[in-house]
Amino acid sequence: MTTIDYSERIPNNVGLGEDRRLKRALEAWQPSFLDWWKQMGPDGLQSNDIYLRTATSVDTRGWAHFDYVKMPDYRWGIFLAEPEAERKIAFGEHASEPAWQEVPGEYRAALRRILVIQGDTEPASVEQQRKLGQTAPSLYDLRNLLQVNVEEGRHLWAMVYLLQAYFGRDGREEAGMLLNRRSGDPDKPRILGAFNEATPDWLSFFMFTYFTDRDGKFQLSSLAESAFDPLARTCRFMLKEEAHHMFVGETGIARIIERSCQVMREHPDKDPRTLGVIDLDLIQKHINFHFSVTLDLFGAEISTNAANGFSIGLKGRFQEERIADNHRLVDDSYPVLHPDDTRVVERHVPALNALNERLRDDFIADVERGISRWNKIIGSYGHEHRLSLPHRGFNRRIGLFADVNVSPAGDIIDESVWQSMEDGWLPSEADRSYVQSLMVEPVLTPGQFAHWIAPPARGINHQPLDFEYVRFD
Ligand SMILES: [Fe+2]
Ligand SMILES: [Fe+2]
Repeated sequence: MTTIDYSERIPNNVGLGEDRRLKRALEAWQPSFLDWWKQMGPDGLQSNDIYLRTATSVDTRGWAHFDYVKMPDYRWGIFLAEPEAERKIAFGEHASEPAWQEVPGEYRAALRRILVIQGDTEPASVEQQRKLGQTAPSLYDLRNLLQVNVEEGRHLWAMVYLLQAYFGRDGREEAGMLLNRRSGDPDKPRILGAFNEATPDWLSFFMFTYFTDRDGKFQLSSLAESAFDPLARTCRFMLKEEAHHMFVGETGIARIIERSCQVMREHPDKDPRTLGVIDLDLIQKHINFHFSVTLDLFGAEISTNAANGFSIGLKGRFQEERIADNHRLVDDSYPVLHPDDTRVVERHVPALNALNERLRDDFIADVERGISRWNKIIGSYGHEHRLSLPHRGFNRRIGLFADVNVSPAGDIIDESVWQSMEDGWLPSEADRSYVQSLMVEPVLTPGQFAHWIAPPARGINHQPLDFEYVRFD
């Protein structure tokens, strides 16, 4: 057996070379991670050379190093954003005290739970996406999928590092369990609902990276405010990578819309589905689905757990330090929509209890911006059709709207109305099989793109569009 120099093998800025205990823990975990990767990572692409971005340091030169690499040889590193000298806690009961470099004993369980929930989403999405390489619309898109996958693997490493470095034996056990749960497995599912849904096709993949990776952005942003400084610094660095995932989603959908609009302009009298492109109604249904499933990830609108996490300093608000208030929220209130028999009404509740809803509001505002950019594309082709977000109460499984039926327009409706309308609002079996009928084979010729999607505006890292982003020998 060859010995591996892990401090070299695992690029890091956490002094791994000098920390024998942590090194041993990571060395014990790393082979299980690789086994998991080979079993549950991208199917059938483990020996190809792929043009990937690897972080080798956190500075501007090192965080995005591009080269060909086989995925099992990817150097999953451990990086924390540079420390802020004498950083102070920005919110809650401990506001203006020094940030913690160790976990306070009384908050240990709550903090571990946060790390496990965040950590669990990272391998889950890799599992959900593992078959997509078989139907990639181009080498460019295939490479982007695999880039997202290896970086979700790195985000798992980031959470496992925190568990192993700060939580002793419990942390090691949790690190092991992160590799044991499986997306969609009824016996050992991933923790959160959206991460057990299938990602069966590329339309779903782009929607997932647009909506669900954006949930990641907002969760990481509020954890980047944490009083526990190693967590804050870990999340700050992860956010840099997350931006690319959302870019893949937004531009992926934009290119599908572009292509559909082109074809519809050439054949204004024909049903787009007879022309092999994805109609805008179908895109709208996918927006309805992915938006509502992702909203559930923010948790219940009114939550004492969220209040507690804020008060004790574990999780702040989005861009906490830019908010002009006293950062304690003890006497404040916040408007929250409630279903009330026949209509939706706004009620003010204690702001501390409404933190999940507040983060959901920040998310919705961010999502809206992309929708209007998509609508500009449609408008530029002279179409009147516009995409929109459904009401936040639509198709929810968690929180105040879990037990009522809400239409996309925000009306509370009977179960019978819901039943009769559901196939018009959410992707039906027929819709899903239409999408899958477009995506039966991968397009693997450099510079070529599947019929249903337009090429991107530019390549990766200044490479041309016909660059060989993935090599098949
Ligand atoms: Fe991630
Ligand atoms: Fe991501």
